[in-house]
Amino acid sequence: MVQNQAIGIFDSGIGGTSIWKEITTALPNENTIFLADSKYAPYGKRSKEEILALSIKNTEKLLEFNCKIIVVACNTATTNAIKVLRSTYDIPFIGIEPAIKPAAIHTQTKKVGVLATKGTLSSELFAETSDLYAQNIEVIEVIGTGLVELIEEGKIHSSEMHELLHSYLTPMVAQHIDHLVLGCTHYPYLIPILKKMLSNSVKIIDSGEAVARQTKAILTTNKILNPSTTPGKHMLYTNGDIQVLQDIVKTNTAVTYAVEGLDF
Ligand code: DGL
Repeated sequence: MVQNQAIGIFDSGIGGTSIWKEITTALPNENTIFLADSKYAPYGKRSKEEILALSIKNTEKLLEFNCKIIVVACNTATTNAIKVLRSTYDIPFIGIEPAIKPAAIHTQTKKVGVLATKGTLSSELFAETSDLYAQNIEVIEVIGTGLVELIEEGKIHSSEMHELLHSYLTPMVAQHIDHLVLGCTHYPYLIPILKKMLSNSVKIIDSGEAVARQTKAILTTNKILNPSTTPGKHMLYTNGDIQVLQDIVKTNTAVTYAVEGLDF
């Protein structure tokens, strides 16, 4: 029965587990399969064609697992590949994009910072979203060069990380942003550090909960919600370092899951 099939989720690496966590919280009886494509991270530096090819590879792998819906838990893959994925495959895709809209609605200073990868900030989809919602505000875009790499190496609390974040936040703070949009699913793991570096008047926005809500809505509309009343089963696969994936997930979830290496 299609309802019992898993929700497939992929990211360029371990960052998408921040979205996986929101999905398992919002939909506790759904089964999930998560792919961390860490071997090919970071996507943010790659060409649109490469990002598309990797997104297709990950999608095909999730389809081998019979997933009923795919969540592209990566801003860089969404902004560069989701249109093609949606027109190629016959299942629903949920994507994630920098949450400019709520920031643009609520900003008082009319200055909003967006921290994201080069691939996301240079994509057509990001430009379209920005044009749509951020006409009357100033968006200060900063490429988070090196952040994904450090997270993938398990170096969230390193001095290199602090130095990089300090250099990326300085121009935004100087321009009086009151919202910081995290445009990469790796970055929610940096929120505790970002909060210490920013004043309370800067609100940090990430899209995790919104993606989980949207996933639930699309499963409901398509009548493919899992009717099970018992907790779902969760498999997380990585083609990179298993320990790094294990370490990031274990501090971040209350659900039972298994982590395994996989060549894909
Ligand atoms: N988690 C990915 C994103 O949301 C990271 C991209 C990368 O690998 O550079 O954009």
